[in-house]
Amino acid sequence: MQIANRMQGISGSAIRELFKLLGDPAIISFGGGNPSKACFPSETIRTITDELLREKSDILLQYGATEGYMPLRRAYLDHILPDNGLHGELENVLALTGSMQGLDLICKAVINPGDVVLVEEPSFLGALQTFRVAQAKLVTVPMHTDGVHADELEEIVKKHRPVVFYTIPTFQNPAGYVTGAKTRKKIAELAAEYDMLVIEDDPYAALRFCGEKEPTIKSFDTSDNVIVLTSFSKTISPGLRVALCFGNKDLIRKMTIAKQGSDTHSPNLNQAIVAEFINRGHMPAHIEYISGVYARSAGVMTDAMAEHFPEWVHYEKPVGGLFIWCTLPEGWDAQELFKRAVERKVAFVPGAPFHTTEGAGLNTFRLNFSAEPEERIREGIKRLGDLLKEMAEEK
Ligand SMILES: Cc1ncc(COP(=O)(O)O)c(C=O)c1O
Repeated sequence: MQIANRMQGISGSAIRELFKLLGDPAIISFGGGNPSKACFPSETIRTITDELLREKSDILLQYGATEGYMPLRRAYLDHILPDNGLHGELENVLALTGSMQGLDLICKAVINPGDVVLVEEPSFLGALQTFRVAQAKLVTVPMHTDGVHADELEEIVKKHRPVVFYTIPTFQNPAGYVTGAKTRKKIAELAAEYDMLVIEDDPYAALRFCGEKEPTIKSFDTSDNVIVLTSFSKTISPGLRVALCFGNKDLIRKMTIAKQGSDTHSPNLNQAIVAEFINRGHMPAHIEYISGVYARSAGVMTDAMAEHFPEWVHYEKPVGGLFIWCTLPEGWDAQELFKRAVERKVAFVPGAPFHTTEGAGLNTFRLNFSAEPEERIREGIKRLGDLLKEMAEEK
């Protein structure tokens, strides 16, 4: 059987492989980016679903529009986007089966094989995989603790002329860092100057523990070259697979055509649940609640890290999102640490697969703090700390 060129040399995502491990309940997992089970608004969803099925099953169980369920697109335009300083029309909006689908549709609409796509290093594995399947040539810009640096970005854009810059500006996956407002403005300016599409992927922005929220890159966009991906996976439920994008009407139209040939439309019932959740005003209190839960979990993890990790493990205290990025001294291999940690029933994600540059990030790893209860966070970090000390002695 022939396998297409676009799939040659593409391996499965390290995280997806990790999910196999999560089947063992004894494993304390700091691996995936799963929201806490305790944060699912199950009761509200049950009430909404009952009512929707009683009153609208004729519409919701039928085929729907590729563009998305109208009340969801409206709720996005009327509530979610204005909260982020953004305004637009229905033609700027497309409902998605997860923001992962948005990345895939953007690739189908925009990327030709060999085109340069600029990504942060490190960056989200799912996005890297999608760009690779699209046969893009990946070029990287370094992430720093204060996000992407405007001068480095400009130099790379000038040199490589990327068709797309993919960025996760707030509580980045995997690093957890935030790109500042000045750089966000500069990114929008570069998008205009170099006619580059910027994908602003922002699934974590609502999960802020303290401080003021940053303006979106899109709010500085004068050339209509920035597309925003908004996912409800981290705020409501990843299993619903509901997300939306907001961008240039012509691009949205091309993505809609690509979606027609992909899944026809996203599930109506799931879109309607999210629309009702927003329209009934549940979002602000729910976000406040889950941000509080994650802030506490992050605190438990960093307190445990301060107690058990050797001082040569570098990390920043998170102010939002779901992740802590750790850097070990040069010469350490986080993959080796991972293998030994799994023997002690602790999992995390080694950092190398988040990198595009060959051999980069071997001494890095990502910890997630949202999926495990507090006692298991403390216990898992203690086990990891003990292992790090043992491995340092062996060196
Ligand atoms: C940066 C980023 N984008 C997109 C996604 C996927 O989101 P969705 O569940 O909406 O497909 C994730 C999930 O971890 C992510 O971290």
